[in-house]
Amino acid sequence: MSQSHLDFSFRMSYLKDWRDRQHLPPRPPRFSLPSDLEHPLPPDLHTQLGTVGAALGAGAVPSSRTFGVREQATLAHYSIGLMRYEPTDPYPIHRPAPSPRCLHASELYLVRTSSDDAPLQRYHPVRHSLEPVHRDWLWAHTLPETPLGHWLISLQPDRIAFLYGQYAHRLALLEAGHVVAQLRALARGFGWDTRIRWLEADTLEADSVARQEIPLAVLTHVPDAQSHLEPSEPLPTVMRQALHAVMLRRNSGHGSNGVNPLPVRLSQAEVATMARFATADLTPDPELGLELRAVMLNVDGLKTGAYKYTPSGAFELLRPLENDAALHQQLFYTPGFKVQHCPVVWFVVADLPRASRRHGSQAYARVQTEVGQLAHRLGLVAAAHGLFARPSLSYQEANIDQQLRLHVTRGSSQLSVLMGKDRELGFPIRLSL
Ligand SMILES: Cc1cc2nc3c(=O)[nH]c(=O)nc-3n(C[C@H](O)[C@H](O)[C@H](O)COP(=O)(O)O)c2cc1C
Repeated sequence: MSQSHLDFSFRMSYLKDWRDRQHLPPRPPRFSLPSDLEHPLPPDLHTQLGTVGAALGAGAVPSSRTFGVREQATLAHYSIGLMRYEPTDPYPIHRPAPSPRCLHASELYLVRTSSDDAPLQRYHPVRHSLEPVHRDWLWAHTLPETPLGHWLISLQPDRIAFLYGQYAHRLALLEAGHVVAQLRALARGFGWDTRIRWLEADTLEADSVARQEIPLAVLTHVPDAQSHLEPSEPLPTVMRQALHAVMLRRNSGHGSNGVNPLPVRLSQAEVATMARFATADLTPDPELGLELRAVMLNVDGLKTGAYKYTPSGAFELLRPLENDAALHQQLFYTPGFKVQHCPVVWFVVADLPRASRRHGSQAYARVQTEVGQLAHRLGLVAAAHGLFARPSLSYQEANIDQQLRLHVTRGSSQLSVLMGKDRELGFPIRLSL
C-alpha cells in the first residue's frame, strides 16, 4: 500500500473531525440549475416492481418491458428523485437513497449512445426531466449501443466539502454506492441485471478538496436477471412485500442526532434473513475483503456481543460484550442517540491494504462504493422489517475495530448501519409525482 493511500485512509477515518475551516470551499447549490433544453419525463411511473426479495436477488426474473421513456423516468426518479419532505428534520429533503445530512452529492445521467443529441442527459431531481449536458468525458461517446441503456453515476464532493473538507470524498463515494444499489434493485423490478464498469475515479488525486465533478461508474442493464440465492428456497413472507412500498418506507431514523428509538427485539431468524438478503446480490471482488460484522444488542437467541456473518449464513460469536454506556458511546459517539434500544448495529468491513495492492489508485473508490451498496441493501431489508437503518460514521472506529476483533486482521470497519424502530414518525410529506 503506497504512503498516499495510508495517509488518505487515515485522514478519512480516525482524524475525520480535523479540518481547517478557513480552507473549505463555499457551499454550492444543492441541485444544479435547470437548463432551457430539458426534456420533461412522464410522471406516471411503474409501481409494479416485484417483491423486495426479488429486487435483492432471490429468484430469476424474466425481462418483460422495453427501456422506454417511462422506464427511464421510473429508474431515475426512484434512484435520486425527491421522495419526502420532513419539516421537523434539520435535513428535510429525502431521496430514495440516503445521503449524509441530505446534501446529495450524487448525479445521475442517462447515456444515449445512438442519439444525435449530447450523449449525456442529466436527470434533474427537482424538475423530473432529462437535460443534455456537454462534458469532457470522451469515453461516453465510445460506449456500445445497448437495448436497455446505460446510466452514469458521478460525484460532486463539494456539496459535502463545505462542511467536511476532504472527508467529503469518502462520504460522497459511500452515498454513490447507495445510489448504485438502489438502481440495481429497481432494475431487477424490470427483470434486468446490471453490469457495472468502474471509471478511473482517482479520489486521491488532489491533496485539497476536488472541485470538479468526478464520473464514477457506468451501469448497463442486461436482460433476464439471474438468481443470487438458492432458487428452491421459499421467499420469507417479509421479503414478499412489494419493492415499491418498501423503498418508500426506507429511512434512516428521524432527526439528526436526537434519535430515541423504541426498544425492540429481533429474533435470530430475522437478523439471519437480513444478512442473507443484504449480501445476496453482491459480486464484489474478493480482493476487497468485504464482510459483514455486527454488534447484537437485542436479538433473541444471540447473546449481546460482536459477531461475524459467515458465508455459510451463521453468526460466529467473536466476543461477548456488556450492553453498557461505554459500548453505546463507541457505537454512536454523539450524545442523544439511544443505541441501547437498537436490536443490532451492523458494520461493513473491508481490507483496504489488499484492495490497494489489487486496484492501485482506484482501490479506495471501489471499496467505499461496494460498502455503500451493502449498507443500502441493509436499509431495504430493515424497511421490510418495519425498521429504520441509519448509515453512520459516528462511531469510535479504533475501539469498534477492536470489539469486532479486526485488530488481528488487516480489515477495518468502513461504515455502520444502526437498525431501530422509530418512536416518532415526524411529519413526512410525500413528494410524489
Ligand atoms: C454515507 C453516509 C454517512 C452517514 N453518516 C452519518 C453519521 O455519521 N451520523 C448520523 O447520524 N447520520 C449519518 N448518515 C445518515 C444521513 O444523515 C441520513 O441518511 C439522511 O439524513 C437521509 O435520511 P433518510 O435516509 O431517512 O432519507 C449518513 C448517511 C450516509 C449515506
